Amino acid sequence: MAVQIAELDEDVVPESIEIRPLAITIGAEISGVDLSKPLSNQEITEIRTAFLKWKVVFFRDQPLNHTQQVAFSRQFGACTPAHAVYGHQDDAFPEVYSIDRDRRDKRYKGEDLRLPWSGWHADVTPAINPPAVSILRGDTMPPFGGDTQFTDLVAAYKALSPALRKFVDGLRGIHRYQGNAAVNVSKEYLDTLKQNLIISEHPLVRVHPETGERALYVSPSFLESIVDLTPTESSTLLAMLKTHVTRPEFTVRFKWSNHALAMWDNRQVLHMGPKDIINSEYPREIHRTTLMGDIPVGPNGKKSISLEGEAIKPI
Ligand code: OGA
Ligand code: MN
Repeated sequence: MAVQIAELDEDVVPESIEIRPLAITIGAEISGVDLSKPLSNQEITEIRTAFLKWKVVFFRDQPLNHTQQVAFSRQFGACTPAHAVYGHQDDAFPEVYSIDRDRRDKRYKGEDLRLPWSGWHADVTPAINPPAVSILRGDTMPPFGGDTQFTDLVAAYKALSPALRKFVDGLRGIHRYQGNAAVNVSKEYLDTLKQNLIISEHPLVRVHPETGERALYVSPSFLESIVDLTPTESSTLLAMLKTHVTRPEFTVRFKWSNHALAMWDNRQVLHMGPKDIINSEYPREIHRTTLMGDIPVGPNGKKSISLEGEAIKPI
């Protein structure tokens, strides 16, 4: 299913919003807009354009409730179910996935899942059609610590030598959903992973469906091997690429405040949640919605292939 975000129009000069870039190629803070109300067409176009260009955009002081977050999200595309593996927590809001500091979510009660976030990743890349866009609302955020980091996969691709770019252009990778690093994992949690196993083969270089830019489609938490290479070649090249995509010059780090909102493009960035928050006395509560994405395509026009699990369906 095609995502309903408009083509990149570099000529759109923002009139109704202000854009403050945070790094050279990735991340911008947007102000001058109230996300709790329906947006004008002009505002939607300007936000879409900034979003495609800066790859992750941030808004501050937007106290939204679940209904308003879902309404905001739907102005940019169709919502996916809250989470392809874990489902949703609140039947009234099947689009909203909530995580707090102490627990992956409220469903695995009693478990000491002190690391509810995995490392660097794009959301649910093991799916044949991973969510294009993630929208994260920071409801109650710590005064310090708990930052989210993002890295630019287009910049990472461009920084490779022409020879290596040519090599990775034709490669494919296997993405598997294995759950997050956690201690004292319960049988219930492991059963959930087993019953919802998703594995896909994606191109290692993904052509962005809207901008046409090539991104190094390496999602470290999920990408486990490269097709057609020997095991040694695969693990060695993956180790190099996983380090390469998170080089500091490709990244931006967001310092949250209460009621801030981040909206990122999973087709061209990775993100990583905080681990420092485990040692913080402050709560951190976030609510995520994700928008439908299409099936990735490589530079050779070859699409991804599903190896296990269903495609994500809009709700
Ligand atoms: C997510 C995620 C990171 C964070 O919601 O998909 O990875 O900083 N969150 O909370
Ligand atoms: Mn994530």
